[in-house]
Amino acid sequence: MKLWGGRFARHRRDPLFEKFSESFSVDRRLVEHDLAANSAYVRELGRIRMLEAREARGLLRGLESVRRYVRSHPNWAGRSAAEDVHSWVEGRLEREIGPLARKLRTGRSRNDLVATGTRLYLKGALREVELAALHLLESLARRSREHLGISLPGFTHLQPAQPVLLSHYWLAYFEMISRDIGRFEDCRHRADELPLGAGALAGASFPVDRARLARELGFARIAQNSLDATSDRDFVCEALFAAALAMAHLSRLAEDLIIFSTPAFAFVTLADAYSTGSSLMPQKKNPDALELVRGKAATVLGRLSGALAMLKGLPLAYNRDLQEDKAALFEGIESVLEALELVARVVATLEVDAERMKAAAAEGFLTATDLADELVRRGIPFAVAHEQVGKLVRYCSDLKRDFRSLPSAEASKTLSRAEVRRFIPGWDSRLAAIAGSPEKSVARKTALGGTAPSEVRRQLRRAERTIARLRKALNSRS
Ligand code: ARG
Repeated sequence: MKLWGGRFARHRRDPLFEKFSESFSVDRRLVEHDLAANSAYVRELGRIRMLEAREARGLLRGLESVRRYVRSHPNWAGRSAAEDVHSWVEGRLEREIGPLARKLRTGRSRNDLVATGTRLYLKGALREVELAALHLLESLARRSREHLGISLPGFTHLQPAQPVLLSHYWLAYFEMISRDIGRFEDCRHRADELPLGAGALAGASFPVDRARLARELGFARIAQNSLDATSDRDFVCEALFAAALAMAHLSRLAEDLIIFSTPAFAFVTLADAYSTGSSLMPQKKNPDALELVRGKAATVLGRLSGALAMLKGLPLAYNRDLQEDKAALFEGIESVLEALELVARVVATLEVDAERMKAAAAEGFLTATDLADELVRRGIPFAVAHEQVGKLVRYCSDLKRDFRSLPSAEASKTLSRAEVRRFIPGWDSRLAAIAGSPEKSVARKTALGGTAPSEVRRQLRRAERTIARLRKALNSRS
């Protein structure tokens, strides 16, 4: 059934165009929201006497039957050739209540209806996304509490840089995901604006009380300009941006864990439940779950660019281009929802090799900066200290040695004291102890935000308060 036709001599479109333009296969998932918006609108038409009480009751009963039909028939969409979900609802309504269905769209358009349904969908979906993100925060905080005693190399340029606590590392991702939740919340609040009653573009000709409609549909505010209300898709772009950035964060974490799980690092072992094998190489255990997170991050990013490109240069008001918004939005939201939940589980179940991490933190030259810092405390300018330690590092690497070969307080190891003093004249047991202790290096980073255990414990308490606050906020909302 078509919602238009009178103006056309030919009733059939070219089947290719029919297929090209249908959106039912995508927007049918808005059916409940469409029914809710239609019902609220019918009640309002009854209140302002644009429908007789009997008609309003009949339409509402009909819409209720359609809702029951949808809920009791999992395959309700079947092979319907409806143009979109709005046409389907009207068609189904007519089967339920006959010609009265034709009064359904008195003064309202699919343009204000689809904008309303999409916003209703998004408000609910973002809440689920925030819950999934909260699950990830919980995983990260739990692992962080568990791993307070473990240090590992921190990297810049993927080159070993300075030792950090594993807890500190988890909490870095905690920060990113908390910001993501803030963005989802923010987006949800801005999307909380009712377009219904804006008509096709110019506003409704009947005196509908849009404040009443907003209250009934649970919107916080009313879109103030009908041209904008029917053609605004900022909320789609915002949601996709928040999703794309969250996916970028998940993708970084995925990449770290992929690297950490290679035998060369062997810092972590992923649970079997999130790994796959090879059809050819029997020994393989591949991190496909995390690779797909990385891959889907690219897709969501593409959806964001697609949505922005769709809006750019679009003349006011509604244009059919806007129909592309829903496939983008649904895919973006679904991907980020699943990825958040999945990564929460991957983090919760992975096994950490604390000994490997600690050993790696002692390898190489991760305490080089600490040596330079100690020389600075002795009055040597940092640039000079940097040069001295740098030369010692070069000498050691030329000999295929690292700081583990330096003469310690107790015993002379591979290198002699005299050798070391060629580069660092003040070399003594205190410097040796600093060079040999990633733990001391970590312990010294006590300034706010640093990796010292006391400071990480403070971060962690803060993280746990954040979780408690979010749990309350997300559970209290209807
Ligand atoms: N399926 C359309 C969409 O998603 C509904 C609005 C159609 N409006 C119109 N004027 N053709 O955008």
